[in-house]
Amino acid sequence: MEFELTNNKLEKISADIVAVPVFEGKNEFVNTETSKKLDLFLNGDLTDGLHAENFIGKKNTLVSLRFPKKVFNAKIIVFGLGKKEDFTADVLRIAYSQIAKMAVKKVDSLAASFLSANDADTPLDLQATVLVEGLMLGSYSFTKYKEKDKNERDFSTIIISHDNKKDFLRLKKSLDMAKLFCRATYMARNLVNEQAAVATPTLLAKTAQDIARGSKNVSCKIFEKTDVEKMGMEAFLGVARGSDTPPKFIYLKYTPGKKSKKRLAIVGKGITFDTGGINLKPEWAMGDMKMDMSGAATVLGVFSVIGKIQPPFEVLGIIAATPNLISGKALVPGDVVRAMNGKTIEINNTDAEGRVTLADSLSFAVKEKATEIIDLATLTGACMVALGTDIAGLMTNDSGFAKKVQSAAYSTGEKVWELPLPDEYKDMNKSEVADISNLPTGRWAGAIAGGMFLREFVNNTPWVHLDIAGPAFAEKGHLLGPKGGTGYGVRLLLNLIKELGGEK
Ligand code: BES
Ligand code: ZN
Ligand code: ZN
Repeated sequence: MEFELTNNKLEKISADIVAVPVFEGKNEFVNTETSKKLDLFLNGDLTDGLHAENFIGKKNTLVSLRFPKKVFNAKIIVFGLGKKEDFTADVLRIAYSQIAKMAVKKVDSLAASFLSANDADTPLDLQATVLVEGLMLGSYSFTKYKEKDKNERDFSTIIISHDNKKDFLRLKKSLDMAKLFCRATYMARNLVNEQAAVATPTLLAKTAQDIARGSKNVSCKIFEKTDVEKMGMEAFLGVARGSDTPPKFIYLKYTPGKKSKKRLAIVGKGITFDTGGINLKPEWAMGDMKMDMSGAATVLGVFSVIGKIQPPFEVLGIIAATPNLISGKALVPGDVVRAMNGKTIEINNTDAEGRVTLADSLSFAVKEKATEIIDLATLTGACMVALGTDIAGLMTNDSGFAKKVQSAAYSTGEKVWELPLPDEYKDMNKSEVADISNLPTGRWAGAIAGGMFLREFVNNTPWVHLDIAGPAFAEKGHLLGPKGGTGYGVRLLLNLIKELGGEK
């Protein structure tokens, strides 16, 4: 998808579709600068058309209008932004996604314009960003295995009309940056949507190596099983024991041109398929478990473009990749494994495997002297019970760092909600035989128990844990894309990295 800026008027652009925003109105539906200008050009036919369609501009609604070719060649899609007083950039992102979903397979080009300062106080750069995000995320599909659709096309060109040429350079930058973020999101979505037989630890490792090969600031080291043994990662290896697929411990590193003391580690859960292990999952819970490497996919998505963002500090990407399978060699309840940091873990449920692999990933981040750690993990069904499918649970040992993550999430529209890690709950993961148990002692607050467990492996490093079990994978089509991997966290992390880079 290409984005072009022009100072031609919208009605002068030759495109298959012209997208026109309006706010929800009572009587007046032609109520934005763009719609008013177009209505003038069409001698009031736009107003009449909307009346005829009973279109009142409600959020997430759109209508398409056709006029005689002599009058106006393109199809006009008028889309509702809801009430003006409730308008945010999120609304615009979702609106463009709806347009993409409706039109993407049918046309080659689309013309659009920005809301004026009188319409909304959303800065132009942010409008450019959400326009790209909405159109690109909304038009994503995973058709590799659909014989009929595998070569389906995309809008090839988006032409944006804006009268002030002085803004072009800066808008171009926002458009390019948003495109980059979306490409990274596509990469994560593709990895999550890929079948587990293909998206193996080996494929994840190869993807990481390819990323490093393509970017001179990024290096990659793959630790094979024997290396992992030497490092003392018995916890990760314990989970990997049940499968014949070789496990891979993936270590990516971005180094800036100038030396820096800051070293942010991003850690992703990389379970390429979660059967539950010997504590086998029931059928209804296993179907989508190829998504259990979503955290890892997010880390890879971020690294695929980090060389182009060039943050002024080091960024580490850490993934312990293995499926959680069953075999004669698999872990059984009662087994005890020792994590890299020396803590012993009693395995009381082989389906709580994510935290066991993360124990080693987080210990590794600490050993590598990360100054901040953020982990993304499809860790608990309990987090989905608490927050539903769209919101990630955020847990932390450092409220200052958490605020920065929350602020980055707010701008990208990826929702997070903080869950506490209260001292009163410190016995939740008590084990009678080892330092800690991977299965909480009680039924309640399972997401928090997961967070409390992970906290034991980050020492005092400022750390944020995002439980993305809900938002990483859409069970059905959603506002910004189809069923499947959402790429949750890619834009959030890239935005965080950008914002941390701007700090003095
Ligand atoms: N991968 C699952 C969590 C999950 C569930 C992710 C649903 C996405 C959707 C994780 O490994 C798991 O099975 N967790 C257990 C933990 C329990 C045994 C303490 C769970 O949530 O039931
Ligand atoms: Zn599990
Ligand atoms: Zn899992």
